[in-house]
Amino acid sequence: MTFAIRQERAADAAAVADVHRAAFAGDAEALLVDRIRADRDAVLSLVAVDGGAVVGHVLFSGMIAPMRALALGPLGILPGRQRGGIGSALVREGVARAEAAGWQAIFVLGDPAYYRRFGFSVDAARGFDSPHAGDHFMVRIAGQGGVATTGPVRHAPAFACL
Ligand SMILES: CC(C)(COP(=O)(O)OP(=O)(O)OC[C@H]1O[C@@H](n2cnc3c(N)ncnc32)[C@H](O)[C@@H]1OP(=O)(O)O)[C@@H](O)C(=O)NCCC(=O)NCCS
Repeated sequence: MTFAIRQERAADAAAVADVHRAAFAGDAEALLVDRIRADRDAVLSLVAVDGGAVVGHVLFSGMIAPMRALALGPLGILPGRQRGGIGSALVREGVARAEAAGWQAIFVLGDPAYYRRFGFSVDAARGFDSPHAGDHFMVRIAGQGGVATTGPVRHAPAFACL
């Protein structure tokens, strides 16, 4: 299975929504993406494409935090293309781009069994105060050191609808 990763373009929006509706079997994540975009909180949006068709998408949005922090999510892959490495490639590419651009921390809400392979840690997130804190709340701190390990962190307002 081949695919390429590139930055999302305006013309991809409908296909991105379709991917999330199919991946999550509902509207919530597609609406979340739309709200984050409408609020201008989207910082990095990557799509996986195969033959011109969007088969996966990941969004990174700005947070209020004691460091330069992004939230990863939603991440969705078309059901017929799951478990083919596309989600991993989107996460790894997004993390690399974000850290190269100076973002110091990336938070995610999800399954630790999936995200720990990318360096996300539930334990590292326990020091942060968030309405989403708990066993599915993780952070990956960029490697340069000197980054806060405690304090209040807040997702973009659109996440309140989750
Ligand atoms: C979860 C999801 C993003 C993973 O993307 P993907 O392209 O299917 O996954 P990859 O091929 O990169 O990775 C496959 C690996 O992840 C594991 N995996 C897939 N989904 C998983 C899940 N929900 N929990 C734990 N592990 C998972 C697979 O077992 C596989 O592990 P292995 O390499 O050790 O065999 C994708 O399956 C998806 O869109 N699911 C529905 C929506 C969703 O749950 N999104 C995540 C929101 S936090």
